[in-house]
Amino acid sequence: MNYHVMTLFPEMIESAVNCSILGKAIEKHLISVDAVNIRDYTLDKHKKVDDYTYGGGAGMLMAPQPVYDCHKALIDKISSDKKIRTIYVTPQGKVFDQALAQELSNEEDIIFLCGHYEGIDERVLEEVVTDHISIGDYVLTGGELPALVMMDCISRLVPGVLSNEESAQTESFDEGLLEYPQYTRPEVWMDKQVPQVLLSGHHANIDKWRRERSLERTKKRRPDLYEKYVMNNKKE
Ligand code: ADE
Repeated sequence: MNYHVMTLFPEMIESAVNCSILGKAIEKHLISVDAVNIRDYTLDKHKKVDDYTYGGGAGMLMAPQPVYDCHKALIDKISSDKKIRTIYVTPQGKVFDQALAQELSNEEDIIFLCGHYEGIDERVLEEVVTDHISIGDYVLTGGELPALVMMDCISRLVPGVLSNEESAQTESFDEGLLEYPQYTRPEVWMDKQVPQVLLSGHHANIDKWRRERSLERTKKRRPDLYEKYVMNNKKE
């Protein structure tokens, strides 16, 4: 998986991806992250990339020319026969979830376009963007953190990035349910005892207990997911 991030703050991307599991995946050549500075492509003699909005209103907008030229340079560099998914990271997009991460993990290259200021001129978005994606219904100062969130989530799904042990584990959103509670040693901590069933070695009972806790937890914390789960399992 090769990520290409169009941004005005490449150092924000670079400083985050070289740590932990993503850093190891880069070392192992399972993923690559190329952060490209949009400002390097402006033809403005003062290196400006933004301008006032037509029709008035507060704030500046990113101008079309540097964004378009930066994107063109990337497409030329990637040199693929396939249409490259270009994701505009925006609170106005479809909300990112595990299913979308799964779908995107099948791509060879993904371009993330990170906006700043009040956004980007609509005409260049129409020219280059294939997907508008948000990470949730709240507004951040720019697209870099959402792009990092998506890269982190997608990368875990790329074969080899997680160890077999990590990837075989059940996790939240498997089947649309939240994960059950887990415990490690000591057996008693602050007068709290690890549930007896987990010490029993009886695998069928443990599975049953975990499933019940998953359902109970999802119903309490995420009634929206629980409803969906109940609906989906009714149909079968
Ligand atoms: N840019 C600013 N806020 C955002 C969000 N919630 N998701 C994606 N991009 C954003």
